[in-house]
Amino acid sequence: MAKTTPVDVMEKKERGERVTMLTAYDFSTAAMIDAAGIDMVLVGDSLGMVVLGYESTVPVTMEEMLHHAAAVSRAVSTAMVIGDMPFMSYQVSREQAVENAGRFLKEAGCDAVKLEGGMETADRIAAITRAGIPVMGHVGLTPQTATALGGFKVQGKDLDSAKKLVLDAKAVEEAGAFSVVLECVPTPVAKVITESLSIPTIGIGAGPHCDGQVLVTHDLLGMYEKFTPKFVKKYLDLAPMIKEALARFKEEVAGGGFPGEEHSFQGDASLEQRLREVAKA
Ligand code: KIV
Repeated sequence: MAKTTPVDVMEKKERGERVTMLTAYDFSTAAMIDAAGIDMVLVGDSLGMVVLGYESTVPVTMEEMLHHAAAVSRAVSTAMVIGDMPFMSYQVSREQAVENAGRFLKEAGCDAVKLEGGMETADRIAAITRAGIPVMGHVGLTPQTATALGGFKVQGKDLDSAKKLVLDAKAVEEAGAFSVVLECVPTPVAKVITESLSIPTIGIGAGPHCDGQVLVTHDLLGMYEKFTPKFVKKYLDLAPMIKEALARFKEEVAGGGFPGEEHSFQGDASLEQRLREVAKA
C-alpha cells in the first residue's frame, strides 16, 4: 500500500471519513501502529514526558526528536510520519523554522512536521510549506506554552477566547497547513471550527465532531502512570500487567524457574566434561 499523503487526509474530510493519528517514539510501537492501519504517526514532543521523564515538553531538543523520529520512520511503510517541532526550534525566526523542519525530512525520514500556535505561528507555517514541507498546525492547549496559557487547562471556554481559537485555526489553514490539531477545546467550539475549515481537524480532548482523533499511545495503552487526562480512553491498562510480568521474572530467576530447558541451548553432552578438563589445566 502507498504512503498516506496530506492530500489523502484532506480527501478523507471531503468524504466524511474519520482520520486517525497516534504517537510513537520507537521502532516496535511504530510498526504496530502502522500495521493497524492508522493514517498518521506523530512523533510527538510528548516524548519528553512519557519516554524521557521530563516534567514538561519544554526541554525536548531537536537532537532527541530526530533520534526517535528516525527510529519511527524506519518502521513505518504506509502511515504518514509527522515530526513534532520542539520548543524553540521554530520560534526564533522563519529561517530557523524552515531549517529545522527540513531536518525532520532529511535526517529522520519524516513526511511532514507539526508545530504549535495559531496567528502568531502562521508566518512560520507559510515559510515551511513554501519550502515544500507539509505542515500540521496545533491550536487550543499548546503544551509548549502552557504556562503562558495559565496551565494545562481547557481553552476557549468563553466567547472571546473561543473566537480567538476560530481565528487561530483559520490562520493556520490560510498559512497552508494540511490539517490542525485541536487540543482541550469544548465540544461546541471544536464543532464550529471543524465546520468552518476545509482542512481536517484532529481532536485531542476536543469532542466527537472533529474530522479525526489523536491520542498519546502511552495513555491509550495505560503505560504512563503519572497522570491521565480526562479525555483519554485507556484501551488497555498495561502498566499493572507489565509490573506483574517483571515481578514474575524476578521471582523465577531467584527460584531457578527461569531459564528452563526450552530457553537454553543444549549442545554436545560430552562438551561439559572436556571443557572442565581444559579449564583445570
Ligand atoms: O506531542 C504530542 O504528543 C502532541 C499530541 C498530544 C497531539 O502534540
